[in-house]
Amino acid sequence: MTAPDQDLVNAASEARSNAYCRYSGYRVGAALVDEKGNVHVGCNVENSAFPEGTCAEANAIAAMIASGGKTINSIVVIGGEDVVEDCTPCGGCRQKIAEFADASTRIVLVGADNGLTTYTIDDLLPVSFSLRG
Ligand code: THU
Repeated sequence: MTAPDQDLVNAASEARSNAYCRYSGYRVGAALVDEKGNVHVGCNVENSAFPEGTCAEANAIAAMIASGGKTINSIVVIGGEDVVEDCTPCGGCRQKIAEFADASTRIVLVGADNGLTTYTIDDLLPVSFSLRG
């Protein structure tokens, strides 16, 4: 594990502790570093009108875009109910990550054993849709 990964894991874990997940009880945190080296975090924010809830990854991406970041260098995702479980980004979040990823983007997932597994966007969303070609 590299030091920057551990920093991102810590940031994602802290964001996860703030998840607003009163309906599912499932806490997710995400932390990403953009092309400038700036870190952005997000957690899931649920809503009593269920489809209005937002995912941790989407909120971290929104924070990146709002502060002027363009590309995800690395993103860490950590989730689970009370304890950390194996948690992979949902299909919608894979598409959202793909919008701001390139072949070198590292998608780092924290496992139930706290081990880290790193994927590319092509691993998680092969043959993806893109208007950019
Ligand atoms: N969730 C995320 O935040 N990211 C994902 O990639 C998967 C699911 C959230 C949505 C909802 O608040 C809770 O986890 C259970 O689905």
